[in-house]
Amino acid sequence: MHRDVEPAILYFGTPVVLVTTLNEDGTANIAPISSIWWLSWSCMIGLDASSKTTENLLRTGECVLNLPSDHLVESVNSIAKTTGRKKLPLHKKSLGYKYESDKFLASGLTEQVSIAVKPPRIEECPVQLEAKLAKTISFGESDSKMAVPSVAFELNIEKVHIEESILKDPSKSYVDPDKWHPLIMSFRKFYSTRDYIHESKLADGPEAQYAPWKLKGLKRKLTEWVLKKNTKRYKTKIQVNDPV
Ligand SMILES: Cc1cc2nc3c(=O)[nH]c(=O)nc-3n(C[C@H](O)[C@H](O)[C@H](O)COP(=O)(O)O)c2cc1C
Repeated sequence: MHRDVEPAILYFGTPVVLVTTLNEDGTANIAPISSIWWLSWSCMIGLDASSKTTENLLRTGECVLNLPSDHLVESVNSIAKTTGRKKLPLHKKSLGYKYESDKFLASGLTEQVSIAVKPPRIEECPVQLEAKLAKTISFGESDSKMAVPSVAFELNIEKVHIEESILKDPSKSYVDPDKWHPLIMSFRKFYSTRDYIHESKLADGPEAQYAPWKLKGLKRKLTEWVLKKNTKRYKTKIQVNDPV
């Protein structure tokens, strides 16, 4: 039997991501987040508007999304309930947050120079996505349950770095989910993805079918023709429907 309930949070399970940004003095900040999803090489992240990361992203337009493996859970936990913002927002103060000026030092993680953006990558994270800001949206304004002002950032992924031990084949671009165990947060508890439970119908055909820019020759021409037709047919004109 289903019950109508009112959970305080709806965190059903997403990967933990360590977002690195640059502070105004050129030092780097790290923020653990888990409100994130991807479509192609575009990504959406959700942030508390009062976080240092929000401030840094709005000022610099750049970040790196570093995905830790499950074994990095203690490093993530060591910077939970910290903020790079000197003047603590009141709600964070009451939740027991502390100001932390150097989250690399506090977590024991290592800075690694990025290629396409200025904020550093985190060396220990097997997946590092360098990203630039595409769009900023004030998020959840009509949600009466939203506790603090929130922002959604649409990011363009500019560079993807994958540790070769989690690739299917070191010379190819495909991540092997049997070798990659991201840290997952579900309802404030940490999990791993170590149990493979079933084949997926989505896995019929090569992964490259999701990346027309990887195809060659006639296959590419044909796919481009189909996509052009599709775009014409399905591209939606977004209407802003503000309820009265
Ligand atoms: C595992 C984990 C997941 C989190 N997910 C989010 C999130 O999705 N969005 C968010 O705004 N804060 C999230 N937080 C809280 C931020 O880490 C927190 O707001 C932090 O102060 C941000 O750091 P900053 O102020 O230095 O940017 C999460 C914290 C942890 C430990």
